[in-house]
Amino acid sequence: MRLILIGFGVVGQGLARILRDKRDDLKQRYNFTSEIVAVITGSRGTLYRPDGLDIAQLLSAIEAGSLSHYPKHDGLIRDWDALRIIREGEADVIVEASPTNLETAQPALDYCVAALESGKHIVTANKGPIALAYHDLMVRAKAAGRQVLYEATVMAGTPALRLGVEALAGCTVSEVRGILNGTTNYILTQMENGMDYAEALAQAQQLGYAETDPAGDVEGWDAAAKVIILALTFFGKKLTLNDMDVRGITGITVADVREAQAAGERWKLMASVTADGGRVQPVRIPMSDPLAGVASATNAITFVTDLMGEVTLVGAGAGQTETGFALLADLLALHRG
Ligand code: HSE
Repeated sequence: MRLILIGFGVVGQGLARILRDKRDDLKQRYNFTSEIVAVITGSRGTLYRPDGLDIAQLLSAIEAGSLSHYPKHDGLIRDWDALRIIREGEADVIVEASPTNLETAQPALDYCVAALESGKHIVTANKGPIALAYHDLMVRAKAAGRQVLYEATVMAGTPALRLGVEALAGCTVSEVRGILNGTTNYILTQMENGMDYAEALAQAQQLGYAETDPAGDVEGWDAAAKVIILALTFFGKKLTLNDMDVRGITGITVADVREAQAAGERWKLMASVTADGGRVQPVRIPMSDPLAGVASATNAITFVTDLMGEVTLVGAGAGQTETGFALLADLLALHRG
């Protein structure tokens, strides 16, 4: 499987490391082999080499600051722009892991359209194109006989979407709710441990949980984008950020956290969606609620169903390896056909 990586930050590098470290295992267990033929970044250059790029050298180059540090190789092309690589590059899949833009979804949306127009599948960790242009992309994908997979957009590699779509197929889902943002859950947990908000946020950024612009996390927009994606996936309903009551954790002080603790409660940023709409808001839940034990960057999602009652999945909500794995899971799903 020939891959074009778009975005080579926390998530793109996470996938590259997994593909490097599990190369033999993936070949042996699933007969899956892959080659990164191109890497596209916003400000650190692009590389295209039809015969494939060396992952260790890609990681060294980006650690040195730019893909321009990638060594000379036969057939290496450094001067094609993103759209040319996507359109003309010999590849099977684009992996979209550039920063999420929830206002326009660009430039990722143009990249996704170009990929489908040139017969490539899309595997995306970028929430923008899915949240803002789901129907358009799915129509284009169908016409092109290609797939758009987006497990990485909700709860990293914890198989939240696949659980609902595949494992619970046949159930009618009436509500999906949970803790859907790793950064804010990490901050709230650290504040309970006595850390101040700014330091906890800095740590969440350092650990690769936060979005490129962490305002999206702490103000609730990242969780809201996940609500939009869940609404599209499970209710076939198109929501926009303006349709929803969205509140983040920026108004929660250490004193609020202490007060909740004294009352045997915890603050959690809860997201929920039904066929009628979605919301994101911080709520105080009792320690006896199972979700009170979901700490740090761990997230949880509950599907309320007719045949199975409530089914809850708890797992990583963010992180380099965890989101890299989500992309791998989608690539393996494509490989299985
Ligand atoms: N910034 C997101 C979070 C990344 O903290 O949950 C995973 O979508």
